[in-house]
Formats: sequence, structure tokens, C-alpha cells
Amino acid sequence: MTDPQLVLTERVQQALAAAFGAEYSDADPLIRPSQFADYQANVAMSLSKRLRRAPREVAQEIADHLTDFPGTVEVSGPGFLNLTLSDDWVTAQANEVLADPRHGVAVPESPQIVVVDYSAPNAAKEMHVGHLRTTIVGDALVRVHEHLGNKVIRQNHLGDWGTPFGMLIEHLLDIGEKAAVAQLEAGEGNAYYQAARAKFDSDPEFNRRARTRVVTLQAEEPETMRLWHIFMNATVRYFNKVYSQLGVTLTDDDIAGESMYNHVLAQVCDELQERGIAVVSDGALCVFPPGYIGREGQPLPFMIRKSDGGYGYATTDMATIRYRVQDLKADRILYVIGATQAQHMSMLFDSARMAGWLPEHVHAEHIQIGSVLGSDGKMFKTRIGKSIKLAELLDEAETRAAQVIRDSEYGEAERGDIAHAVGMGAVKYADLSVSHDSEYVFDFDRMLALTGNTGPYLQYAQARIRSIFRRGGVDPAEATGPIVLGNPAERALALKLLGFGAIVAEVAENSTPHRLAAYLFDTASAFTTFFEECPVLKAEDEATRASRLALCALTLRVLETGLGLLGVPVPERM
Ligand code: ARG
Repeated sequence: MTDPQLVLTERVQQALAAAFGAEYSDADPLIRPSQFADYQANVAMSLSKRLRRAPREVAQEIADHLTDFPGTVEVSGPGFLNLTLSDDWVTAQANEVLADPRHGVAVPESPQIVVVDYSAPNAAKEMHVGHLRTTIVGDALVRVHEHLGNKVIRQNHLGDWGTPFGMLIEHLLDIGEKAAVAQLEAGEGNAYYQAARAKFDSDPEFNRRARTRVVTLQAEEPETMRLWHIFMNATVRYFNKVYSQLGVTLTDDDIAGESMYNHVLAQVCDELQERGIAVVSDGALCVFPPGYIGREGQPLPFMIRKSDGGYGYATTDMATIRYRVQDLKADRILYVIGATQAQHMSMLFDSARMAGWLPEHVHAEHIQIGSVLGSDGKMFKTRIGKSIKLAELLDEAETRAAQVIRDSEYGEAERGDIAHAVGMGAVKYADLSVSHDSEYVFDFDRMLALTGNTGPYLQYAQARIRSIFRRGGVDPAEATGPIVLGNPAERALALKLLGFGAIVAEVAENSTPHRLAAYLFDTASAFTTFFEECPVLKAEDEATRASRLALCALTLRVLETGLGLLGVPVPERM
């Protein structure tokens, strides 16, 4: 463990136990960076009430018990502890992280099976910007867990089943397979859906055909399934185009859509009914997990079979949880889904617990995704109110990114690659730098800015470090130091770099990619200050040059690895 904040937390907790008894060892010392020392602990004030002693006295007693502290401790103000680590300690730790191929990221003793449900666009409708967000956040979580050595199972729960498919298949027959495939592959799913819908509403004969088609689809009749496959394959080809443009790790093997559960839905309902977990209410089969009350004070149903006998979203989701626990053997299931589905998810988890399908030891979590807004503060739409085609949005990001780098001297092909990396990096980072459950305004100008907490700024920071090595004719892998810390800017950068492992662990634990984004931004900022103050290639002597090159190399690796975990591409040059 190298993260100073974690090391200090542990040290102070040991001191608490030594001073006041073991029952005090789990008090949070609230170690925070400080302007008066490296860190400040703020624990004496809260403990003073519990101990009925003056805060400064409590602080002094903790300080007295911080034996072998690798630095200096000072009581300040009403009872803060100012903690400054010795340069020797920071230097030793920095050299350790430098030599560690994982840069301080620990491998857990017992890897977990983590199932991640993410992206999950609906086939009958155009993938919208909300799906962009579940896709990007989910993919970052997947990358972090894999990096930590967990076994990740991706589940792309496509909306690929249900009553709308009756009319969608009939429409395919009307316009012909070829035309339908072309339209769907081009990402015109919305227009396709609307055309089918219009006929469904106005043409009784079409309406009748669509309804009949739903019946043959439910029965998985071969010709209907053939048509369904044509429809789905074309749709998935479009999704894949968006995934590959975004650089998302989902493949066809990760598709586990609603259709996959079709044949178990009846059994799910029967079993829950037989066991008395679900009861018939107004003709519908419902689970009533305790604690959900409707507006009139009535218990809210989690409806797994409608009164007309049809199954819905809740039914499929009960099946997903059972499958993920029993077949996939999940230890943890992350549902990366819009915040608007919070109640559904919560009722799902409670119902699954009632059914015994989600045992105590398995953690199911709804990673709530906030909405993406337009500059008007409303849901992000085009001017005429249509939802925006994702592929077009991503193309626009690349076109705009090309403008940002237009002054560079690179050749056509390299400029294209850089524009792609910068455009996708900007879009993805803008999404990931915001807490996943907050809303944010989709704003190309802000996300493409080369300064501030943006993807391009971080991409540029790492590209600039690469250029230092190019100019010096040094391979970063050979910059092995040793690190020696003279200048305060070197020390501040080293302290930041020591925190990488802890932040990655934290992101996995709390599903908070924005914390990694903030860490990378802070690290890049610390590097900027260092680079302004400390000449690297022209350092005053060989040892200083070697040390600074090592700091550059470690910063580069941390930024590169960290951006990689966020799924943000790292261009060689910019
Ligand atoms: N297709 C759904 C939507 O677009 C999301 C599905 C999420 N996954 C799940 N298991 N419910 O809203």
C-alpha cells in the first residue's frame, strides 16, 4: 500500500487504539490534503465529545502515540493534526511504484465474478444519447474490474423482443428484406419504427397481421424467427458500428437480450406463483415487495404477468437475476441503467431476494445513470425534437476535433487518427468526469477544450510527456530513476502518483469512474506545475535528469493506464 491517505489513515487508527482503546480504532481520521502540511487529520474534535476531553488534548495524545511516524506531526488550531511525510518516505514509495509494473494497483486475493449489464439499446428504436452514457460508464467499470483481476461477464440486455416486433416484422415484409436491412444498418431505426407504427395505427389489415405475428413470434415459429433474425442482425450491425467507433469492448458474444429469456418466462411466473411469492391481483400476477406504497396508500405491485397473460420488463428482469446468480455464478451484478428506472430496479432486487434468487452474499447494484441534457436544460434532442442519431453525433465530434488540431503539421492519415482519438476521448471523458448519477449538458465546445478537466487536456498531457522522451531520445521504459526529490513540485507530483492504486480500488468498490477522472486531472495538473518549474532534458546534472525522466515516465504510465481504464484513447502525438 503506497497511497499516503490510506497509509496515514491506518497509522492514525493504530494511534487511536493505542491511546484510547481498541474500540476507537475504526473512527475515520478524515485525512485530507492540506495547505499547512501534506495532510490534515480531523478526528480529535469529534472524539473529544466521546472522550469528554478538550480537543487539543486529544489531538496531542494521538500525536504522542504516532510512534515511528515517517515524518512530522503537529497539533494545530482547535485540534487538527498536521501530518507531513518525510522526503525519504515519499522517495522510497515513489521508487517502489516506479518499479511496480502495476503502479500500485493491487490484485485482490480472491477475484470476484462481476456481471455488468450495460449499453442495452432497444432494437426497435434508435440508440439514443442515454444509451451512449450507459455504454461508456459500463465499459469503464468493466475495464477497471478486469484490470483488478476480477472475472467480468458483460451482458448487453438488448431490447430485442416483445409486441412491437409483430409490426416491425410485418413492415419488413412490406418494404422487402433488402430495403429493411439497408435502413436498419444505416441507423434509421427510428424512421423504420415510425413507419411501422403509422400503419399499425391506421391500417386494420396491417394491424391484424402484426398481432398474428406477435403470436407466431412468441411461439418461435421458424419463418417468423428467420425474419426476426434478419431484423436483429441488421440492427446489431449498426450498434456494432457505434461500439467500434467509440472503442467499446462489447462484442456479439456479450449480447444477452430480452429474447434470450423468452422460453423461461412462463416457468418464472409459475414457480413464483406456486411458492406464494407472487399472487394474482386484478387478474395480473404480482410480487408485492414490502415498503412500496402507491399514491392512495395501496401496496405497489411488481407485475410479472399482465392480466392479458403477457409478460413484461419485470418478468424478463426476474429471469436475468436468476440466470446471473445461478448460471453465471455472479458475486456482484452491476446494472448500469438510467436513474429513471430506480424504482423498477429496487423492486426487482427486493422481489428477487424474496424469491431466494438473490442470496445475501450476492450484491446487486443499480448504477444509476443521469440524463444527458441539451443546452436548453431539457433532454438532449435535435432542434426539430427528434432524438439524435448516435453515429452522427460521434461523427460530428470527430469533425470538430479535427478543427481543434487543424494547425498541426501531421499528414492526412495521422490527422484522421488523432481527430478520431480526440473526438471520442472528448465525448467519453465528458461523460465519465461527471458523477454517473448526475445530469450533464452535452456541449461540444466544452468537452473539446484543450484546457480544464477535459479528455483532450489529458490526452495532450500524456502526448507532451511522450514528446519529451522523443526529443531526448530516451525510451520511457528505460527511465528507471532512481527518483530523488528536491523541488517541491517534484514532491507534490510524486505524492499524487502514489495514490493511483487506491483510486482504482475505490472506483471498483463504489462504481465511481469520475473519481478516477478527477485523479488523472489532478495528476496532469501536478505534472504541468512540475514541468514548468523543473527542466527535465536540460536538468542541472545527470542524477537530477534521470530522476525527472523517471517522474515523467511514471506520470506517463499512470495517465496512460488510467485513461485506458476509462476507455479514453491515448494518441502518440497531438
Ligand atoms: N433496454 C432498456 C432501456 O433502454 C435497458 C435495459 C437494462 N437492463 C435490464 N436488465 N433491465 O431502457
